[in-house]
This record gives sequence, C-alpha cells and structure tokens, in this order.
Amino acid sequence: MPYFITTPIFYVNAKPHLGHAYSMIAADVIARHMRQRGEKVFFLTGTDEHGEPVALAAEQEGVSPQTLADLNAARFAKLPQQLHITNNFFIRTTDPRHKQRVGEVLQRIYDNGYVYKDVYSGWYCPRCADFKTENELGSEDTCQIHKISLERQEEENWFFRLSAFQDQLEQLYASLPEFIFPRQRYNEARSFLGQGLHDVSLSRKALRWGVEVPWDPQHVFYVWFDALLNYYTALHFASENQDLTGTFWPPDCHLMAKDILKFHAIYWPALLLAADLPLPKRLTVHGYLLMDGEKMSKSLGNVLDPFVIAEHFGVDALRYYLVKDVSFGQDGAVSTTAFEERYERELANEFGNLASRIISMIIRYRDSDVPACQLDEELVEELNPIVDNVMACIDRFELSAALEVIWVGVRRLNRYVEERAPWKLAKDPQLADELDCTLASLVEGLRVLTVVLTPWLPVSSQRLLETLGAPANDLAAAKLRQGTVQSLQPIEPLFPKKI
Ligand code: MSP
Repeated sequence: MPYFITTPIFYVNAKPHLGHAYSMIAADVIARHMRQRGEKVFFLTGTDEHGEPVALAAEQEGVSPQTLADLNAARFAKLPQQLHITNNFFIRTTDPRHKQRVGEVLQRIYDNGYVYKDVYSGWYCPRCADFKTENELGSEDTCQIHKISLERQEEENWFFRLSAFQDQLEQLYASLPEFIFPRQRYNEARSFLGQGLHDVSLSRKALRWGVEVPWDPQHVFYVWFDALLNYYTALHFASENQDLTGTFWPPDCHLMAKDILKFHAIYWPALLLAADLPLPKRLTVHGYLLMDGEKMSKSLGNVLDPFVIAEHFGVDALRYYLVKDVSFGQDGAVSTTAFEERYERELANEFGNLASRIISMIIRYRDSDVPACQLDEELVEELNPIVDNVMACIDRFELSAALEVIWVGVRRLNRYVEERAPWKLAKDPQLADELDCTLASLVEGLRVLTVVLTPWLPVSSQRLLETLGAPANDLAAAKLRQGTVQSLQPIEPLFPKKI
C-alpha cells in the first residue's frame, strides 16, 4: 500500500534548530516503521522560501531573499542527511516547477469562482505571515507566538472565499473524527470552524518575494497558499521519470506542530476542495519542544543546535531522547542534563550493556555459536506481542508510548539475564542445556527488540543486527524464532561513555 507522509516545509529565515529536527525525526520514525510493515512510503520534507518571514530577514542581513534562501535551504537539506532521515524528496518552493504548479492550481480556483478582489484591513504578523483576529492578539497588540508588536495593515488583496466551505468542512469533521490526531487538536480545529469562517487574503501587493499571480502579476500569492501546495506539487516532479501523484495522492499523514494547525486543518482542505482535489486522510499534530518554559524558537533565541547534539551524542541518541522524553503530542521541556541522564541510564546501561553482555557470553561460553535449541516458551510469549502493540501505538501516532512498549521488553531481558545468571549455569556442565536455552532465548529476544527499535535507533540497530548475522528488519522478522541467529561477532559498545 502507498503511504505518503510529510513534514511542514520550514522557513529559511534562519538556520534549523532542534524543533525542526524534532518534526523530521518524528516523521522519519513513522516512515521507517511503515516501510518495515511493507508499505510503499513516500516521505516529503523541504523549505518554505517565499513571503515576509524570509524577505524581512534578508533585508535585515543586507542580502537578497534568494541568497538567504539558498544559504539556509542548504542547511535544512543537510539536516536529514545528518540525522539519517529517509525522506524521498526535499522540496524548495523557489523551484520553478513548484511555482508553475502553484500558478496552475490557483488559476483553477480562480476559474472555479472562489477568488475576488477586496481591501484587507486588520492585524498582521510578518513573522507568522498570518492575519490575526482581535482574539488572537496578545497583550498590547502583540503576536502571542513571536511576542512582537503588531501593526494594522490596509492593502488591496485577492481574497479566497474560505467562507464558501463552511458546510463542507463541517461535514468533513463530522464524518471523520480521526481526521486530526490527537483528539484535543481535532476539537480545537472544530471549535475554530464553529466560530464561522471568514474569507482570507490569497495575495499580497506590497510584497515582491513570492509566486506571481497569473491573472494579476502586480500581486504575489500569500505565502501560506504557495507553501501548502508543496505537498501536491512535489509529487509531480520528485521523480525524474514518473509523475507520482496517481500513486501517492492524497497524503496519509501531514505531520506538524500545533502552531500551524489552522492552516492545515481549515485553509488546506478548503483550498483542495476549491481546486477539486482529494483531501488528505489525516493530520498528526505534535507539541512544542520547550526551553525554560517557552517554545524553542529562533525569535526567542532559546534554541539548541541539532548538529552539535548529534555530533556529540550520536544521531540515535538524539532521536531516542526526543521521542522518549517529550510525550508525543504534548509539549515537553528538553535539556542537556535530561539528555545525559537518559543516554547513560537507558541507552548505555539498559540497552547497550544488555547487547554487549549477551554477545560476550555467547562468545565466551559457546565460542560465538548460538546453541540450536528450543527457546524459553515463557519469554517468547512475553516478548512476541510487542510487535503488534507497537504497530497499534503507531496507528494512533503514539510514538513515545511505542518506545515504552519496547522498553518494557528491554527491561524484561535485563531481568532475565539476572534471573538465569548464565555465569552460574556455565560453572556446572550438567546445566549445559539450560545455559543453551538461556543464551539462545536471550539473543533472539535481543534481535527482535532491535528490529522493532530500528526506526528510533537506525544506526545502532543496523550495526547490531549485522553483528548478529541477521540483518532482516521488516516486521515479519520481529517474532522470536529458533535458529535465526546462528553465530555472531564481537561488538564495540553501542553507546560509549561520553562524560
Ligand atoms: N513555513 C511554515 C510551514 C509551512 S507548511 C506548508 C512554518 N515554518 S517554520 O519554519 O516556522 O516551521 C514550523 C514547524 O517547525 C512546526 O509546525 C514544527 O513542525 C516545527 N517546529 C518549530 N519549532 C518547534 C518547536 N520548538 N517544537 C516542536 N516543533 C517545532 O511554519
């Protein structure tokens, strides 16, 4: 089955921070897991390069918007490589192929009668590139997200007839209670809808940095419409020799943080309806990474650099930490201290040491060969349901809970080592069968847990599975079976001491 998953495309007004990395990592965990299930996945990420956020930042730095976009897009494009993100394509909205498609789709919306000219008069945040209602203002007319003072604007715009879609969106929400995960965000979108939809600006006249409006070249499209369409345009040109739209449209999962819920939950489906295009199946909304109680963001200056953390602790540790420490869907504080603690306790001790111990005992007591004997039935029964439980969690987008489920298995294996104490069994030749069964069960348990863990720990999982001589990592391989690992090799510590 095809499975199309996206992250937001990121503004290139600054370099990436850990918050952006978080969205990519979460999407990658889902994408990798779906591939393990045998789905045909297309995973899209990229950069949002037009509009005021970028134009203003470029002006401040004294460079052209294109120069700033090129510089930061290259940094964003490096992030997936560095973090072992398996995106199939990286879209840039300054790509002429994207711009052409944006013009075509919006022309269709114009031809369908959903566009008219009027004057916009109201509040506008240039950092959000968003028109704010009185309800959305912070104290003293500030942006609640960026904490900057806002000014009222008056400008001739082309408008999108969002209000025409009130009924259709209400029907959509009523018929698809699972349209947005988690439920809280679905309720939020529905209550926004309940306040009644107003038409929104589709173009800007004061700004030049954008996609030109085909029927009125003095205007450029409002950046959000240009940006949202990336999900659709990319499929047309992501593959050199094939238009992927027929295979992958509509998307299975748009992933994002709650800051951009309104655009995806309201504007986006309305835009697609206006263009006669099928709607995405699901939006998945995560919370914010917080530093000192505030959303980590460039404008607040409280950012952690993902490149530096990945360099120091390794990519897997970063991926693991973010998904484990921040309950997926909720906001969560991150800190280097909590990071170090989890690295030490969970990755180095509970998982890394478990792997090293099992491998070295098989090398020591059985000369690297895994005994060919029946596995411990009780352990098999305890560990085998893990794969189904993980799948069920991922189906509900509970990425942190899925990791918990696997970790229960990791802790179980650690206890099993202590209970069976192979070093004692090894002293008594009469207990050789028991030692055989213990070692074979342990290594098979380790293998299965490692397979399921691959989306969270891609680098070390692969290393470990290769050491075990059993590299298959599809989920069909995630059941304990006698004889899968036959002989193994030594391994260097997976998570070496850092401090
Ligand atoms: N360009 C728009 C999105 C257009 S999508 C069609 C935009 N860009 S952004 O650079 O501001 O990125 C916003 C997204 O980055 C969030 O929705 C989230 O996915 C991610 N995050 C940015 N900061 C974050 C945190 N502090 N915590 C979690 N996610 C973060 O909005």
